[in-house]
Amino acid sequence: MALVTSKKMFEMAYKNGYAIGAFNVNNMEIVQGITEACKEEKAPVILQVSKGARAYANHTYLVKLVEAAVIECPDIPVVLHLDHGPDFETCKSCIDGGFTSVMIDYSSHSFAENIAETKKVVEYAHDHGVVVEGELGTLAGIEDEVSHAVGSYTRPEEVEEFVNKTGVDSLAIAIGTSHGAYKFKPEQCTRNEKGILVPPALRFDILKEVSKRLPNFPIVLHGSSSVPQEYVTMVNTYGGAMPDAIGVPEEQLREAAKLSVCKINIDSDLRLAMTGTIRKFFAEHPEKFDPREYLKPARANIKELVRHKLVDVLGCAGKADECK
Ligand code: G3H
Ligand code: 13P
Ligand code: ZN
Repeated sequence: MALVTSKKMFEMAYKNGYAIGAFNVNNMEIVQGITEACKEEKAPVILQVSKGARAYANHTYLVKLVEAAVIECPDIPVVLHLDHGPDFETCKSCIDGGFTSVMIDYSSHSFAENIAETKKVVEYAHDHGVVVEGELGTLAGIEDEVSHAVGSYTRPEEVEEFVNKTGVDSLAIAIGTSHGAYKFKPEQCTRNEKGILVPPALRFDILKEVSKRLPNFPIVLHGSSSVPQEYVTMVNTYGGAMPDAIGVPEEQLREAAKLSVCKINIDSDLRLAMTGTIRKFFAEHPEKFDPREYLKPARANIKELVRHKLVDVLGCAGKADECK
C-alpha cells in the first residue's frame, strides 16, 4: 500500500489502548531495521525525519528509502512524518516533497505565535491531504536545535484553545520526558531493591487533565527512549563514555499508551543500539574494515529493539490491518 496519514492509526490506537511507534530514520540500515521488525510483527509504523536528518542524508534519499520500505512491506501502513519542523517553509517543503504528516514545533515561541504558525501549516497541509502535529510545553534537552536546561510542562488550560484555533490533528505535550540519552540526573532518581536507578514518574496528572479537555484527541510523547542499560553498558564497555545515561521506564510508556497517547517518539534508543553494536564489533574484530560487516549486526539489533518496543511497550504488534 502507498504511504498513509496517521488518521486511522490514531483512531484505532486511541480506541484500543495502544500507541504507534514513531522512529527517527537517518540512513538505510535504520529504515530497514525498523521496517523489518514492523513487517514481521504486523505493526503500523511512523517513520520520522528531522531537520538534521534532511541535512545529513538529503530529503530525496530519505523519501526514496522510505518508499523502498513501503514496497518491501506492502502489508503494513507506513506514515512519513517531519519531526520538529521549525517553520512553515520546512513543513511546506516536506508536504510538497511527499510526506504524509508534519510536525510544526513552535513551542519555544509565545502562545500566540505558536497558534499563528501552526494554523498556517495546518491550512496548507490539510489542503494537500497531510496531517499536522503541534506542540505545547517544552521538553528539557535539545529540541529543534534549541537547548532547554529545564523544560516547562504543558498547561492543560491552554490545550483546547490551541487545538480549536489551529485545527491540528495531534498534540505533543510535555509531562516530564526529554530528548536524548540523559533524561534524568542520578540525584533525581531513587534506587529500587536491585540497586537500579528509578527516575521520577511522568506527570500522568497533566496527561489526564489534557485528555479530559480534549476527548478522543491523539496525544504525542516526544523524548520517550528508555535508554536500555544493556546498550549503555555495551557502549561503556567498548570504549565509550556515557555515564549516567537514564531514560523513561518502559512501564510508564505502556501506561501512557493505554491512555490518550497515540504516538511515542523513539530515536536515542536506536542510536544506542547501533553505536553499542558497532563499538563491540570493532573491539572484537579490530582487523575488519568492511562497513557491511559492522552495519549488519547493528541493523539486526535495531530490528530486535524495535520488535521489543512494538510487542512489549507500544502494544501495536498485530494491529497493521485494523489501521488500514
Ligand atoms: O527530537 C529529536 C530527534 O531525536 C532528532 O534528532 O535533530 O539530531 O536528528 P536530530
Ligand atoms: P528520544 O531522544 O527520547 O529518543 O526522543 C526522540 C524524539 O522525541 C524525536 O522527536
Ligand atoms: Zn522530539
